[in-house]
Amino acid sequence: MSTMMEQSTQTAHSDASPPLLSLNGIHKAFGGIVAIEELSLDLHPGEIVALVGDNGAGKSTLVKIISGVHRPTAGTIRLEGRETSFADASAARAHGIEVVYQDLALADQQTVYMNMFLGRELTHGPLRLLDRRRMIKDTEALVQELDVRIPSVRATIRDLSGGQRQGVAIARATRWASKLVLLDEPTAALGVAETAKVEKLILALKARNIAILIISHSLDQVFRLSDRICVLRRGQQIGIRRTSETDKNETVSMITGLH
Ligand SMILES: Nc1ncnc2c1ncn2[C@@H]1O[C@H](COP(=O)(O)OP(=O)(O)OP(=O)(O)O)[C@@H](O)[C@H]1O
Ligand SMILES: [Mg+2]
Repeated sequence: MSTMMEQSTQTAHSDASPPLLSLNGIHKAFGGIVAIEELSLDLHPGEIVALVGDNGAGKSTLVKIISGVHRPTAGTIRLEGRETSFADASAARAHGIEVVYQDLALADQQTVYMNMFLGRELTHGPLRLLDRRRMIKDTEALVQELDVRIPSVRATIRDLSGGQRQGVAIARATRWASKLVLLDEPTAALGVAETAKVEKLILALKARNIAILIISHSLDQVFRLSDRICVLRRGQQIGIRRTSETDKNETVSMITGLH
C-alpha cells in the first residue's frame, strides 16, 4: 500500500554517497500470501540499517530476496546503480553480499577453518588437493584480528558455544563480504557478554565501510547499533527513521500500530 510509504524517509541519510543497494517497490507473494506489500529502501556503504517488525512481518523474506534465495514478485534491486537479479545465493555472494542466518548454516561436523572456506576451499597442485595449511593460517589471522575467542581453528563447530559459533559465522561473512552483510537475528540465542562480542564484530564490519542490514527483536540493540530503522508490519513498510531522530516509544508504535 503505497499510501503507507513515507517517501521522505527514503532520503533520511546524511551521507551524500550513492546507495550501494537500492530496493524499489519490492513485492513478494507466496501463492496467495503476501509477505511484502511494497518496500523501498536504500543501503549506503558503512551504514547499519535495522529491520524491525513483529513475527511474520516479512523481515526474513526481505533478507532472502536481497541474498538471492527468493525472487521478488515485483520491484527492482539495484546494486551500485545497476539493476540486478540474483539467480541464487551464490550469485549474491559473488557480488560481495554475505548473510548470517539465525540458524547459522555452519557445517557442524567440520572444523572452524573448513567452515570459513565452505564452498570456496583453497587448493594447491594439479590434483587440487585441499590446502589446509593456507586455510588454517588465513583463519587464524582472521579470528585473531576480530578477537573471536575459540579454542582452535581446528575445533569442530559442534564443540563450540552458541556465541563462539556466531563469532565464526560473522567472521566468515567478514572474510568474504566486500559490500553488504545481512544479519537475521544474529544474537537471538546469545547471552549478554556474547551479544556484546557480536555487536563489536558488527561495528568492525561497519568500520570497513560495509553496508549492514540487521534484523533484531531487541530495540536496545537496534538503538545501540543502527543508523536508520526500517519498520515493517504485516508486509507493509510503515516507515524509515534516522535512529538519532526517533525513540523506542515511536518505534514500538510503528511496529504494533498502537499509540
Ligand atoms: N517460503 C514461504 N512460503 C510461504 N509463505 C512464506 C514463506 N516464507 C515466508 N512466508 C510467509 O511470509 C510472511 C513473512 O514471513 P517472514 O519469515 O519474512 O517473517 P519475519 O518478519 O522474518 O518473522 P519472524 O520475526 O517471526 O522471523 C509470513 O506470513 C510467512 O508465513
Ligand atoms: Mg524471520
